[in-house]
Amino acid sequence: MKLIHTIAELRAELGKYQRPAFVPTMGNLHEGHIALVKQAKPLGDVTVVSIFVNRLQFLPHEDFGTYPRTLEADCAKLEAAGCDLVFAPGEQDLYPEPQGYKVTPPTELADILEGHFRPGFFTGVCTVVLKLFNCVQPRVALFGAKDYQQQMVIRRMVAQLALPIEIVTGATLRADDGLALSSRNGYLSPAERAEAVQLSRTLKGMIVALQNGERNVAAIEQHAMKTLADRGWHPDYLTVRRRHDLQPPQAGDFGRNALVVLGAARLGSTRLIDNLEV
Ligand code: PAF
Repeated sequence: MKLIHTIAELRAELGKYQRPAFVPTMGNLHEGHIALVKQAKPLGDVTVVSIFVNRLQFLPHEDFGTYPRTLEADCAKLEAAGCDLVFAPGEQDLYPEPQGYKVTPPTELADILEGHFRPGFFTGVCTVVLKLFNCVQPRVALFGAKDYQQQMVIRRMVAQLALPIEIVTGATLRADDGLALSSRNGYLSPAERAEAVQLSRTLKGMIVALQNGERNVAAIEQHAMKTLADRGWHPDYLTVRRRHDLQPPQAGDFGRNALVVLGAARLGSTRLIDNLEV
């Protein structure tokens, strides 16, 4: 496995291949990332993982400065998973000057849910992902389903900008108790870690309500928000949405595999997100 830091070196190395399969990450890798890398391997003739903590997608009060940078450990895991190339540019390599040109995704998809609570987040994500796509020129790129809205925003960017890249979504990996694997789980204290599973349990409770015929979505959402708030969480949203556009469901959307429940909530100082398709 080769570790590469500059765009020039990456281009020289990738010249030998026709069909890169690409997994973009911010490092601090867990089993969910590794599963994506293993899924990527048979999809291309070279497997490329990028590791770059992207300043553009963090709000000023968020954890850009403290986000764990664990390159050595990440590389060991990637090598064991069969990754061929790790592209780990420094800030100066990817943003040698302030990034004035940005990709602004459409508001109806990118300014709701995560984008509402993290304004500018998807502009930061799309900008870096497009730039990474231009560096790697992959045939296929893989994103985790835990970031449900992110993979939708990227899928639509690729379609609207006619990028010749297939987007594959990898299933969310969960710990034994059901907590979705996330780099940010490492911030949780032992007590918070034990509590953290309540996010997926609450989402499951929302699904059960829908399956039992409840059609008052606002009531389901309020009950879920209160359930977590009563346990000491600070929920941003727990919501029932349509899978295809993340808008609130209409009467005809119930009972035909068209919905997803999504949640984001802070436990202590750690913000967790999760989702489950109904
Ligand atoms: O999901 C992530 O880790 C990041 O948002 C991504 C896609 C690597 C862009 O920085």
